[in-house]
Amino acid sequence: MPMVNSTLDILGRPLKSLRVSVTDRCNLRCQYCMPEDEYVWLPKSSILSFEEIDRLVRIFAGAGVTKIRLTGGEPLLRHDLERLVALLTGHSAIKDVALTTNGVLLARLSGALRKAGLGRITVSLDTLRADRYRKFTKATRLESVLEGIVAARDAGFEGLKMNSVIIRGFNDDEIVDLLEFAGQQGAELRYIEYMDVGGATDWSMEQVFSRDEILRVLSQRYGPVESLHDPRDASAPAQRYRLPDGRVFGIVASTTAPFCRSCDRARITADGMFFLCLYADRGIDLREPLRSGAPDEEIAAIVSSAWRARDDRGAEERAGVRSRGVLYQIEGLRADPHREMHTRGG
Ligand code: GTP
Ligand code: 5AD
Ligand code: SF4
Repeated sequence: MPMVNSTLDILGRPLKSLRVSVTDRCNLRCQYCMPEDEYVWLPKSSILSFEEIDRLVRIFAGAGVTKIRLTGGEPLLRHDLERLVALLTGHSAIKDVALTTNGVLLARLSGALRKAGLGRITVSLDTLRADRYRKFTKATRLESVLEGIVAARDAGFEGLKMNSVIIRGFNDDEIVDLLEFAGQQGAELRYIEYMDVGGATDWSMEQVFSRDEILRVLSQRYGPVESLHDPRDASAPAQRYRLPDGRVFGIVASTTAPFCRSCDRARITADGMFFLCLYADRGIDLREPLRSGAPDEEIAAIVSSAWRARDDRGAEERAGVRSRGVLYQIEGLRADPHREMHTRGG
């Protein structure tokens, strides 16, 4: 197998992980992501086919990527997703194909995804209370997510993770319940600080329940919490911790303690825009060269020269803003839907 040289950016960060959004559509309307009544969707004709995504993944693998995470919108809304999974797991350079989902359709699809070779699943779930869930996501049934988690475990997915965004006044009273629930499901919980990313048009600093506050709640309930420093997690967004009883959980503190200095991730949107940072204002169009007959080498050169020129530290810069408010007002999002979190894939 040819040796792949990691492409380093200006801050010395390698390109290792690629988040691939397969659709901008979602079957939920979470308050922190899609609080508006109406959205501008990407045109259908612009959505990359599985073969186009597969080709891009091969090119990114040549630039050093070893980890793929499928995102959305809600990735399980993309018809036949298992076919894409099977294509991507066929690349020997790709060591890890994972999925972030809201879990609603997981019960139906987890068996096929497992068979196709999907390695890991993370389910986003922020509340265990049916009435809250309904109000917060505008969806009907919390049970479908719970069934999805059980089905994923039964299908043989080990190392399940659960993501919970903690928002003051919404679910900060469920910090302990969410941890207990994840433990019962054999999932590792990651608490996530509410971020002021595009889409979060109702964001305010007052609603951010910080990592320090989460740790305080947990140590009051369980006793001293130990911070784990595993060098293998150095580029992971979550800092991991252990309770006195041995249970492990993570916190993604992107708002109060960003991980930009070790960020090795790029993302492509469902219509083939390449983003170097979750907070980047604009992306690089890879669909045009892809569809106009450019050879792999030409697209690979676009990818690696963009990465080499990368100095983005989006979350860190936001953390330095005094009297921080929302990143985009609704007009800014409508002007370019690529700024939406559900388009660039959380
Ligand atoms: P693994 O590291 O592969 O386990 O997955 P992950 O933690 O990257 O995936 P997941 O989709 O669960 O993301 C966890 C949280 O980190 C989500 O809230 C994301 O929005 C946030 N996140 C993901 N990518 C980025 C990023 O590039 N920058 C920042 N600041 N936050 C991110
Ligand atoms: N703040 C924090 N996390 C967010 N996500 C989406 N929007 C936000 C936000 N404004 C998370 C979802 C999911 C992941 C992909 O991104 O909860 O776990
Ligand atoms: Fe919620 Fe994810 Fe859908 Fe955004 S994309 S509304 S976070 S389920």
